[in-house]
Amino acid sequence: MEKSSGKKNTAVLISGRGSNLRSLIKYSKTKKSLIKIVLVVSDNFSAKGLDYANKSKINNSFIQYSNRKIFEDRLLKLLKKNNVDLICLAGFMKILSGSFIKKFCKPILNIHPSLLPKYKGLNTHNRAVQNKDKFSGATVHIVNEKLDSGRIILQKKVKILRSDTVRSLEKKVLKIEHKIYPKAIIRLLTSF
Ligand code: GRF
Repeated sequence: MEKSSGKKNTAVLISGRGSNLRSLIKYSKTKKSLIKIVLVVSDNFSAKGLDYANKSKINNSFIQYSNRKIFEDRLLKLLKKNNVDLICLAGFMKILSGSFIKKFCKPILNIHPSLLPKYKGLNTHNRAVQNKDKFSGATVHIVNEKLDSGRIILQKKVKILRSDTVRSLEKKVLKIEHKIYPKAIIRLLTSF
């Protein structure tokens, strides 16, 4: 369901630092934004990202992850209550079940710090540096029931220099993550 502004009601799910959330909030405040962030949910009570939500006066909730079913049922209720049309995972460290994805029935996006399908899962920068890859990057994709495997919406490369460390690569990739997440949302929402 859309609000009269025509913007998609968006929920952002986080677990920690929240720098992608911050970039999405920044985008959502631009005139041309296609989304309105109506809800931020964290499975981690002390996620720094919750501070950004509070500062921007965005409705936010901590949902304890005691088990997946209880977490997802609570989340679904909140999403319904807030008429959420789109979910953006932004450093959300839990895997959503196929049943949740079916029940929500609207797009769910995720941002991943590698050039998918390479390096699904964790420690992507470490693996890229260890393997002496020439490139890494970030990918925004649709979430399906398989980890980091849904349809790719947008991907951007960065060069890995011989002087790069895991830390410096992470920094470089994060910078492009902040740029491509809003762009991927625009691509998704204008592709219907
Ligand atoms: C990002 O690298 C994102 O790609 C990955 O987790 C990290 C979250 O960072 N899924 P932040 O919380 O958005 O700063």
